[in-house]
Amino acid sequence: MIEFAHVSCAYERAKPVLKDISFTIREGETVGLIGCNGAGKSTVMKLLLGLLPCSDGKITAAGLPVDKAHLAEIRAKIGVVLQDPETQMFMPTVYEDMLFGPMNYGLSREEADRRIDAALEQLQIGRLKHRHNHRISGGEKRMAAIAVILAMKPDILLMDEPTAALDPYNRRKVIEVIKNLPGTKMITSHDLDMIYETCERVILLYDGAVCADGPADQILRDRELLETHRLELPLRYANIR
Ligand SMILES: Nc1ncnc2c1ncn2[C@@H]1O[C@H](COP(=O)(O)OP(=O)(O)OP(=O)(O)O)[C@@H](O)[C@H]1O
Ligand SMILES: [Mg+2]
Repeated sequence: MIEFAHVSCAYERAKPVLKDISFTIREGETVGLIGCNGAGKSTVMKLLLGLLPCSDGKITAAGLPVDKAHLAEIRAKIGVVLQDPETQMFMPTVYEDMLFGPMNYGLSREEADRRIDAALEQLQIGRLKHRHNHRISGGEKRMAAIAVILAMKPDILLMDEPTAALDPYNRRKVIEVIKNLPGTKMITSHDLDMIYETCERVILLYDGAVCADGPADQILRDRELLETHRLELPLRYANIR
């Protein structure tokens, strides 16, 4: 469903940010992309969305090469929660933002409204429906951004720090929603307990390279591996030596 084959990229010339990255994510898999600040996690997501060109290698999503010719088709299959929700809400209200995707992909207004109400109810944020995007809190924005992709029902979900800025109750809600969501999912987070709960597999990035790729319950309990790469054991394993 997602394939990176020997991918390298750079924001500035001669300063590679990702260095020869390769991995494959099968349909229906939920994969956690972890790594310290600056490791390259958000860059992987930007590449998948075609927001940044790769200097080397090949990226495939939903069976299509990620290039200019296929970008619209690929973006229609990918739902994304960006790290900074500010950059992704572009309509005045939460409702209009939620309407945009489904209407753009040809759903009827009734079906779109049904999906929107279901997504808001699932996340228990119906009260935000007609609020202005610029007049809600950071955590509310993130919840709204997650609701937007729930209403779209994409084949592929990319979530960059979906639980950052959420209170414990909303964090729990989002974890449950992710667990019950069909589709292929790639999630980045520094909340490794959340990654443990939602992902079966983990890819560890460090300095733009893949340092480990394997079952979540193996990688997330490997203190030495995590600490060598400036991470810490999730709380669930923190007391086990
Ligand atoms: N727009 C940009 N221009 C130049 N360099 C950038 C840009 N965005 C990111 N970088 C650099 O690319 C590297 C990877 O950044 P990226 O945002 O992918 O990290 P990340 O793993 O998502 O980190 P975080 O945990 O802080 O979100 C970093 O060294 C960062 O400084
Ligand atoms: Mg990031």
